[in-house]
Amino acid sequence: MQQNFGGRPPSPRSLLLTEVAQATRRLADAGVPSPRHDAEELAAFVHGVRRGELHTVKDADFDARYWEVVARREAREPLQHITGRAYFRYLELQVGPGVFVPRPETESVVGWAIDAVRAMDVVEPCIVDLCTGSGAIALAMAQEVPRSRVYAVELSEEALVWARKNMEGSRVELRHGDARTAFPDLDGQVDLVISNPPYIPLTEWEHVAPEARDHDPEMALFSGEDGLDLIRGLERTAHRLLRPGGIVVVEHADTQGGQVPWIFAEERGWADAADHPDLNNRPRFATARKALP
Ligand SMILES: C[S@@+](CC[C@H](N)C(=O)[O-])C[C@H]1O[C@@H](n2cnc3c(N)ncnc32)[C@H](O)[C@@H]1O
Repeated sequence: MQQNFGGRPPSPRSLLLTEVAQATRRLADAGVPSPRHDAEELAAFVHGVRRGELHTVKDADFDARYWEVVARREAREPLQHITGRAYFRYLELQVGPGVFVPRPETESVVGWAIDAVRAMDVVEPCIVDLCTGSGAIALAMAQEVPRSRVYAVELSEEALVWARKNMEGSRVELRHGDARTAFPDLDGQVDLVISNPPYIPLTEWEHVAPEARDHDPEMALFSGEDGLDLIRGLERTAHRLLRPGGIVVVEHADTQGGQVPWIFAEERGWADAADHPDLNNRPRFATARKALP
């Protein structure tokens, strides 16, 4: 016999899911780019569950502190500063004031670099991450490239505090210093140099999203009038560190795809300079190979 479900009242939604829907609307009105995702992440954070487990939170357990964190996100405080954690490839990193929050765009830069190192077929590849911030790139390389020797450098003392926490127990060697003069002891020995340096032109300040402008450290964002000051310096560092045939990978802004590969010019000792898009098909990183003698 066929049952008629037509007249059955809809199953009641849990209090939490109703609150998440309301928070989503508030975040959307505040201009948060991914309001549903962030409303769910905040609910999961407050209730100590994963996002996929929100339906398991009972009405009686609804925690009113949810509205406090929603208000902070509504004021455009970064989600990752509120939860204290950022996800990057297979890592969960600790982040907060004083350190740049790793971005999803950088995950595809690292993916390319991992493939490039694997293709080198070197037994113990030597990898250097310049401008490491939270340590996201260096830690991902160490985790995903077996037997790699990974070095990282960071100039900001505040960022270093976070990098040290994240690197505890890892095999990344972290140093405090300027990427332009770092690792003289590794000159000519490195297989791959990777960097996500500051690259926003100073002239773009007013167009930067509030989360970045008001919460990421200035030193992590800006680099001279055209944004390329540090990348020009890193070109010399990479050339000094790499062995002939070694590879450099540098992230840049989506407006700089026509400029950055030219910094790695043949007459400066580079070959195969190229630019690559991210997953949204926007220009995102340049790569080049140190020319053979
Ligand atoms: C865009 S953030 C990237 C952080 C990290 N690599 C990531 O992808 O999440 C740039 C980092 O470079 C650091 N930095 C800026 N100038 C530097 C320099 N001259 N030497 C070393 N680090 C520098 C900043 O403090 C910041 O942590």
